[in-house]
Amino acid sequence: MLKGRSFVEPEDFSLAELDGLFTLAEKLEKDEKYLRESCRGKLLATLFFEPSTRTRLSFEAAMLRLGGSCLGFADPGSSSASKGESLADTIRMASSYADTIVMRNPKEGSALLATRYSSVPVINAGDGGHHHPTQTLTDLLTIRRLLGKIGNFTVGFCGDLKFGRTVHSLAKALARYEKIKMIFISPEELVLPDYIKSILQKQNINFIEREKLEDSMPDIDVLYMTRVQRERFFNEEDYIRLKDTYVLNAEKMQAGKKNMIVLHPLPRVNEISVEVDTDPRAAYFAQARYGMFVRMALLSSVLGVV
Ligand code: CP
Repeated sequence: MLKGRSFVEPEDFSLAELDGLFTLAEKLEKDEKYLRESCRGKLLATLFFEPSTRTRLSFEAAMLRLGGSCLGFADPGSSSASKGESLADTIRMASSYADTIVMRNPKEGSALLATRYSSVPVINAGDGGHHHPTQTLTDLLTIRRLLGKIGNFTVGFCGDLKFGRTVHSLAKALARYEKIKMIFISPEELVLPDYIKSILQKQNINFIEREKLEDSMPDIDVLYMTRVQRERFFNEEDYIRLKDTYVLNAEKMQAGKKNMIVLHPLPRVNEISVEVDTDPRAAYFAQARYGMFVRMALLSSVLGVV
């Protein structure tokens, strides 16, 4: 039962609970009328202290499709946070108006902090470079839909693995499934944080680190590309030097398996050439749409209407 529960990181839910969400999301995808009016009268607060297109819009689309309503802000400059109001007080207010809160905030640990001041479930829509658990739901559902199951494959994570919260959440989540090998491809400055590596080591996950994407292409079943994130750098020079380290193009795709899938949490900048978009293995736009269905499944479960 997920009713009334917050979702700060993927491990907050058991594998059986995640499986239930994916089954529900698949049902919602197949039958657009299913649960259509189930959240009538319910309110979702979307509090975005950082920019977003997919996460905010897909959550709002999910709530509206379930018959509920949304309130909130997409820019903290339009909220009283700009006057110095604390996160704790902002959360106290939002939880007195809404039935669930979805929050994105640049500070690591902010979502967990919000759960302490909220009287309603808090869903983490990204806390700094820490976690992005609903992106992980999106990624896992996409893998399940396109490969038939989650397990027994090699996943290559490529790009900014240091600040990439989607990578941190997904790597930890995949470590709970069977027979998953991980290849982490990044420049030396953007390697996976040690704390994630030690979690993987403790769980005996088979992983390697590499610098060149080309060396790994023939081995990868799920290629997870990521953007080098300008907003996480303290120094513009470092960003400019590293931003185009990896560019997936049609030539590099030729070295990939025929049934490989290419995922990306999006937005992309230069790291996937638009020529790849027409390759049948490019799954990142389908992935973004699956995100709406899994967020419908999450909202309806947390609100206890299913
Ligand atoms: N994947 C993702 O979080 O996209 P947005 O930043 O557009 O929400």
